[in-house]
Amino acid sequence: MSTRAKIIEALAAAGETPVSGHDLADALGISRNAVWKHIEALRERGYVIESTHARGYRLMSAPDSLTPDAVGAHLATKWLGRNLICHDITGSTNDDAGRLAREGAVEGTVVLADAQTAGRGRLGRDWVSRPRLNLYASLLLRPAIAPADAPQLSLVAGVAVADALEREGIEAGIKWPNDVLIDGRKVCGVLTEIEAEADMVGSVVVGVGVNLNSVIGDFPEELHDRATSIRMATGRMVDRASFAATLLECFELAYERWREHGFAELKGDWERRSVLIGKPVEVAAASASAQGICIGIDSDGALLLKGDGDEVRRVIAGDVTLVGGYDR
Ligand code: BTN
Repeated sequence: MSTRAKIIEALAAAGETPVSGHDLADALGISRNAVWKHIEALRERGYVIESTHARGYRLMSAPDSLTPDAVGAHLATKWLGRNLICHDITGSTNDDAGRLAREGAVEGTVVLADAQTAGRGRLGRDWVSRPRLNLYASLLLRPAIAPADAPQLSLVAGVAVADALEREGIEAGIKWPNDVLIDGRKVCGVLTEIEAEADMVGSVVVGVGVNLNSVIGDFPEELHDRATSIRMATGRMVDRASFAATLLECFELAYERWREHGFAELKGDWERRSVLIGKPVEVAAASASAQGICIGIDSDGALLLKGDGDEVRRVIAGDVTLVGGYDR
């Protein structure tokens, strides 16, 4: 964590109580003059920090900015997001992370952006990425797995996002493979892209878009009955930097469980949030479509559909809709 992130963290933890320059200097192993310079730099970046000569510094408000310092002040991960790149605006954070992967960036590198001009969704769709409202994040991973196992990471991401929402007090559902829903409306999508050689994955980029502070007018009209945001669902604004840090922590925890024990370890966490289990569904895939009652997923993350007879069909890719049901 940078010194500035540590200062923000210390002031935020102290709340209303001022922290003296002397205590900050001691805790950080720097001079009081250096503390003062960092405070000035933070003020230039929009932090409102009150200072009284006798008592010390008090954080009055933080800017809504996605900077390494702002995210770093909340970040409790061991390795994910420790190399953090934040853009004001970019084409697609997935493209940025893919480029960094080819240049040899370390596992755990994360790219965030305030806005995307060419945000991409699954199945060639666009991902509306308006400025300064939501979270657009791409996580670079280098798991030692076969390409066929990489789609499991989308499910891991779904569990991680649902865990992060749970920490915000929100109950989330998951629609296979990885849409995260609040009250049946989509709050998050995941786009996983891999680079592989022969039978080994070189890198995986997990792109996560979470609607945090959008209101309905921020979405295109065709999404008005299907999309939501945390703000729309709860009425409260979300601190983007803090949510980014929570998401990264939840993802690191879920990813490590998956890496050590396989997807079977997370299957229960995924299934208890599934909005499809026990319901009639139709899956449209590039090759063919399939219908049946969803009975769950297997330990590889494939969707299991029971047809009219007793046969169970495994579906590994496609777009799911609830048959005759209300599917947002
Ligand atoms: C979906 O279609 O549901 C997946 C949407 C994924 C959007 C995220 S936003 C961050 C990352 N960058 C992109 O261009 N796409 C993903």
